[in-house]
Amino acid sequence: MCGIVGFVGREEAAPILLDGLRRLEYRGYDSAGIAVFDPKDGLQMVKTKGRIQVLADHIAERGGLKGTIGLGHTRWATHGVPSDVNAHPHMSENGRIAVVHNGIIENYVEIKEFLQSQGVHFTSETDTEVVAQLLEYYYDGNILDTVTKVLHQIRGSYGLGVLCADCPDRLIAARKDSPLILGFGKGFHMIASDVTAVIKYTRDVCYLDDGEIAEITADQCWIYDSYLRPVEKEHHHVDWEISAAEKGGYEHFMLKEIMEQPKAIHATISPRIRDGQVVLDGLDYSEEYLWAMDKIYIIACGSSYHVGMAAKYVLEKYLRKPVEVALASEFRYSEPIVTDRTLALVISQSGETIDTLAALREAKRLGARILSIVNVMGSTIARESDDVLYTWAGPEIAVATTKAYSTQLAVVDLICLSFARKLGTISAEEHDTILAQLQSLPEKLEEVLEQREQIQYLASIYFNHSSVFFIGRNLDYAVGMEGSLKLKEISYLHSEAYAAGELKHGTISLIEQGTLVIALASYRPLFEKTMSNVVEVKSRGAKVLGLTTEPLRGEMEKVADQTITVPEVHPMLLPSLDVVPMQLFAYYVALMHGCDIDKPRNLAKSVTVE
Ligand code: F6R
Repeated sequence: MCGIVGFVGREEAAPILLDGLRRLEYRGYDSAGIAVFDPKDGLQMVKTKGRIQVLADHIAERGGLKGTIGLGHTRWATHGVPSDVNAHPHMSENGRIAVVHNGIIENYVEIKEFLQSQGVHFTSETDTEVVAQLLEYYYDGNILDTVTKVLHQIRGSYGLGVLCADCPDRLIAARKDSPLILGFGKGFHMIASDVTAVIKYTRDVCYLDDGEIAEITADQCWIYDSYLRPVEKEHHHVDWEISAAEKGGYEHFMLKEIMEQPKAIHATISPRIRDGQVVLDGLDYSEEYLWAMDKIYIIACGSSYHVGMAAKYVLEKYLRKPVEVALASEFRYSEPIVTDRTLALVISQSGETIDTLAALREAKRLGARILSIVNVMGSTIARESDDVLYTWAGPEIAVATTKAYSTQLAVVDLICLSFARKLGTISAEEHDTILAQLQSLPEKLEEVLEQREQIQYLASIYFNHSSVFFIGRNLDYAVGMEGSLKLKEISYLHSEAYAAGELKHGTISLIEQGTLVIALASYRPLFEKTMSNVVEVKSRGAKVLGLTTEPLRGEMEKVADQTITVPEVHPMLLPSLDVVPMQLFAYYVALMHGCDIDKPRNLAKSVTVE
């Protein structure tokens, strides 16, 4: 999704802005641009469709951009096709004010019509241009006042950066429902939609809240509420290393992040296990609260939703409480049954997904207590939740999630063990077995990762199949959903995940000679049931790639064309192992198709529009 970076200081701004934009590339974009104030020639802007390198080449061709203050943007098209003209920044008609914007201005048509009736000419098809033109229309010599006035007129979501040629020592930033941070350095300040854009320059950051407006110069920073009353904000220190957001010798971030899973799971689990018990960061979930809890409502999107699907099986089995899993985009517009005894478990890697955030707010409004599982420190979902459990996966750069998914699963396991122990719905023996196995999960994951070459070989056999079905039951079904999503999002192959028993209720008609079926049958209690479904597809000509546990290898090999195994662990922990071959398979298939693995087409890392 779109990215913003802004700089004001004493050094040349353009190289810093370009570097920041490169670090935001992972979010997904189709065009990019930069505006810099040149003391000699005024506001200068270069923008172009395509990659940051194209933008950098254009800037170099014109001899660079001079100036120590500027704004940069990567655009992921919503209103108007990807093009040079629609790329940000957008300028007011007289070239005085430049604007970069993430989000959507919902009442842009109305504003545009009004401005056109006043004789203003528009050059782009975007909603953002109305902000630049409206700023110019109201401009009274004070850009901060003018921004504030305009913000009271626009509806929708925004992370906004504004640069006005009349006051070229300052940038104005504002946010509503779209993340924006400030970076503090010696003799410079930055704004960005994501800490990755500023981390090379400063680790001292502050997260703007909805409705807040910031004014930054090289040496000073003021933050206000939407009525320009001063606001005191806490600074945060970003403690991950810049190398965490670099490829470290791997061809793609995705592969690096797949391989980092043992480390990420260890980092997520180990601080939360003490003396044989789960300690949930000091969160207060008393026995009384848990007994009174009427249901758990899991709210998430995409892969995080798939974690929710696995969580439902696990939590219902061990807590004996009803668990509903809702797609955030559906939850927010349905009439969910939520009470003040409902626990809403909100799962989000980025902590900024707009549908999930809106659903969180709705659940809160209805009285639920919000517990979120989030990877990005200080993100909006984390800040708006009653309680947060962070996944310590480190920055995830590849658009397709891998290590964030696995660490979310690990946090679900911790929650489950902690709650079940308090409720007395799990025996001490089973609790201790699962906990011990959870702690040794990183080693088991290393064993699965050692099969990387075998999975690459399997991918080379099957990469040319145009349609793939993932089948499984219970937790295997939940993992199949994630395996299918991984495959389609990065390799663009059509794939579907089905509950194995459901296939014969319609979809089996699509199985023909040579159709690839990936059969997940690691969940021992339902192994035989799933295997009957595998036989059904096999007898209709399907090619079957089976996934099971090592002890069941022989049984699977009797039916499947090829078999992948994972070490046997407690069923609750199986998804954490099973998903790894699915991730690797998708990765190698995409590689063989020559796809842009880290930045798949049309996708964005952090989905901050509806
Ligand atoms: C798929 C993927 C997406 C995200 C979804 C939710 O690989 O990454 O499906 O899981 O967009 O994002 P978060 O977890 O950031 O709320």
